[in-house]
Amino acid sequence: MPSFQIKSKNDYLKLVDEVSEHDKHYYEECRPLISDYEYDFLLKELERAEKEHPEWKVAYSPSSRVGEGVSKGFEQFAHERPMLSLANTYSEEEVADFLKRVEKLLGKTGIVYCLELKMDGTAISLRYEKGLFVRALTRGNGKIGDDVTSNIKTIKRVPLRLAGAFPETIEIRGEVFLAKKNFQQLNRQKEEEGEEPWANPRNAAAGSLKLLDSKEAARRKLELVCYGLDREEKELFSQFQMHQRLKKWGLPVAAKEHLAQAANLKEIMAFADKIQKQREELPFEIDGIVVKVDDLRLHEQLGATGKSPRFAVAYKFAPERAETKINQISLEVGCTGVITPVAELEPVLLSGSTIARATLHNQDEIERKDIRVGDF
Ligand code: IVH
Repeated sequence: MPSFQIKSKNDYLKLVDEVSEHDKHYYEECRPLISDYEYDFLLKELERAEKEHPEWKVAYSPSSRVGEGVSKGFEQFAHERPMLSLANTYSEEEVADFLKRVEKLLGKTGIVYCLELKMDGTAISLRYEKGLFVRALTRGNGKIGDDVTSNIKTIKRVPLRLAGAFPETIEIRGEVFLAKKNFQQLNRQKEEEGEEPWANPRNAAAGSLKLLDSKEAARRKLELVCYGLDREEKELFSQFQMHQRLKKWGLPVAAKEHLAQAANLKEIMAFADKIQKQREELPFEIDGIVVKVDDLRLHEQLGATGKSPRFAVAYKFAPERAETKINQISLEVGCTGVITPVAELEPVLLSGSTIARATLHNQDEIERKDIRVGDF
């Protein structure tokens, strides 16, 4: 692995030249001098330097070839239909507004909704032709995505052939994610190697899909869950039932207990509450639930605004954070004799509970974060 540190503009300019040289070898001469992995590393270093020192950035930097959402090093393809994103809501009132809007647009009440988890990963579209897996594209800019087929193939749960009766061509939409356990392990490893850890599993999943070396991607143990199709499907009228259909084709879908149908706001909020209570124990990260009009025939009718469809909305859980004062630090002796430092807090309301104490884990952690009495 190249080892250097960018400390000055001069170092930065040298890196610009170096990456440009590699680009030339790779794209013009098709004879790379370094591995894809090393290249990826250099490009990341370059981007990091530009982020930290935007004043250094030169117009001819190879990083500027990386367009919005699509990256170099990958072939790009258009999505059969655009990949949209979801509008977010953060409160019961906003969800209520969404339901009202849907009813108003459709001119009727009694709409059924399909409830799903909002996976904290990165969107993917899988294309099957005659039942055979041909390509996987990232969302990219919504219209054009990066071809990350070889990295997606490292996910064992991705069927290379669909089972049963399937349409001539179809694009299946889903989410690529990392289990919490794998994410933590990946970050530990990154830190051991002196690299910056990923901020969250979503970045880690997206970053892993963009690895130029599929062997490395395979080591990341990516996972997939599917939740959508790019078009109508024969005799399929319900989003809720779509998961069954996807499963029959052999695709991974959400667990039964993570899907529901709801007829009103109360049922939606009850599902959200139930999921929020399970959130910590789930083996993967979620950041809320998704509420979709269940009747697929209404989706087209509802249309879209800008980048988001009107048939669905994300209800995001409030971040479980609050600020309060540390009044005291006490030591607690557990039944196995382990001593744990505990912060005695000025009581604060957090996700519906009053919190007055919080573990500080151990002395190392206290020193690392420089935690003291009186701190907030
Ligand atoms: S539906 C047009 N369903 O959230 C509908 N998206 O903010 C868009 N996501 O890009 C996709 N879980 O990456 C849908 N159950 C779910 C989802 C989900 C996570 C992600 C997806 C999307 C983003 C939108």
